[in-house]
Amino acid sequence: MNKNFYITTPIYYPSAKPHMGHAYSSIIADFFARFKRIQGYKVFFLTGTDEHGQKIQRAAENKNMDPKAFCDEISKTFFDLSKTLNLSNDDFIRTTEERHKKSVENLWNILEKKNEIYLSKYSGWYSVSDEAFYSEEEIDTKNNIKISKISGSQVEWVEEESFFFKLSKWQEPLLKFYNENPDFILPVSRRNEVISFVKSGLKDLSVSRKSFSWGIKVPSNNDHVIYVWLDALTNYISALNYPDTNNSLYKSYWPATLHLIGKDILRFHAVYWPAFLLAANLPPPKRVYGHGWILSGEEKMSKSKDNILDPLEIIDTYGLDPLRYYLIKEVSFGNDGNISKEKLENCINSDLANNYGNLCQRVVSFIEKNLDLKVPNNYSLINEDENVLKIYNESFNKLIDSIDTQNVNFYVNFIQEQLFSANKYFNDQEPWNKKDDAVRLNTILYVSLELIRKISILLYPIIPNSSLKALKIFNINEDQIDFNSIKIHENIKKNDKLNKISIMFKKID
Ligand code: ME8
Ligand code: MG
Repeated sequence: MNKNFYITTPIYYPSAKPHMGHAYSSIIADFFARFKRIQGYKVFFLTGTDEHGQKIQRAAENKNMDPKAFCDEISKTFFDLSKTLNLSNDDFIRTTEERHKKSVENLWNILEKKNEIYLSKYSGWYSVSDEAFYSEEEIDTKNNIKISKISGSQVEWVEEESFFFKLSKWQEPLLKFYNENPDFILPVSRRNEVISFVKSGLKDLSVSRKSFSWGIKVPSNNDHVIYVWLDALTNYISALNYPDTNNSLYKSYWPATLHLIGKDILRFHAVYWPAFLLAANLPPPKRVYGHGWILSGEEKMSKSKDNILDPLEIIDTYGLDPLRYYLIKEVSFGNDGNISKEKLENCINSDLANNYGNLCQRVVSFIEKNLDLKVPNNYSLINEDENVLKIYNESFNKLIDSIDTQNVNFYVNFIQEQLFSANKYFNDQEPWNKKDDAVRLNTILYVSLELIRKISILLYPIIPNSSLKALKIFNINEDQIDFNSIKIHENIKKNDKLNKISIMFKKID
């Protein structure tokens, strides 16, 4: 069985500083990466910035800056955010790096050599904001301005000499590929959109531009820069040291397990990218998942709409783990979601402070008072104990499956239910009334500890810092977390010394 897992986020445009939408994709990707690591997989998790093209060139011009200096400055804010979000990424790629340039040039040369690229003239609509070409049918007029029906962003007419990629030739091979790989595009609704787009007919794709210079030059014709999407998509293999396909990174991790993206950039990932790869005789990724949008009111939160929520402000006020928990739990994965401070505060108070934090606190302080902070030794499980524990065993495969099918909602609901059930167990068993029955008291406390251990492991991918704080009770540190151990009813060793735990989440009034 292949125990390698390669997950990527989109590489973000450093045209303006990051907002909550970027934080969202990155946090979800981190969640999957962390889960697979504790499941025992070798994981490679990539994120980064997409720095070429007209959009960036114009943004730099607006600030009277050299594009590279401009990118250095803003890319750093994305890099810093990856630290603030506690992402466990293994690499952070910038498309202005030499390793990436080499990789793109190589891919281009192969496509040219294989006769997949030809020189002609482009005339049509282009959106700089989306860095995308649109057909006449995809254009609308609003207040006398031409816009893309798909994204709503403004388009302009472009007429220039351009290299074309023979995308039309890949229409049937792509349809065959989707058919043979029914899980290539998720969720299913997005898959259907892509298939009908491809079926409606693919035209050859313009893959170079002549009217500006900020990009990687076409090796055989320096008047042209390579289309920023062909450039950007290649990052996923540049980071694995492509064109060296014999090195261990490439061999271990390509094809990628999962490109996690927003639904706005599905066409590029699910149509163009596999077509480029098939044309270069490289295997396409195994899956592209297009998640929904964080909305601001009714609209997509977006740099160009000036309606953004700054993740740094939220983290300053509420802390990182509450934000991570909230985004993963409250935005129903796959769908669009609105976020509000009210819902976030609710989440912190009820789920995190009351249900999780309080459970840890109560159980440990009870053990401190009654058992000198030692794991109970003299216990014996009865039915009602087995009942709260066995669910972890019974749901074990379903939990793994939920991760492997990106069913985040199942995973999160399971944790919610188990938090509820653990609290109920502790309350119903009333250990404070069992002081005359040492075995029963010991058993209730032992089981409660086990429940805290299991729930904390499940929470690790979502709120790593808080989970680690709780696992410290048992002296379990990060590299010792093993998802497989949630199946074991009696994993905590008798008589081990436990550690006290300080307040995990502050309640908001
Ligand atoms: O498209 N809700 O970069 P980008 C949820 N450089 N996710 C959101 C979001 C929102 N409101 N806004 C942005 C690009 N995102 C290209 C990608 S990849 C080879 C090149 C997230 O800065 C989401 O993942 O516009 C979306 O797909 C991505 O940021 C777009 O970031
Ligand atoms: Mg965008």
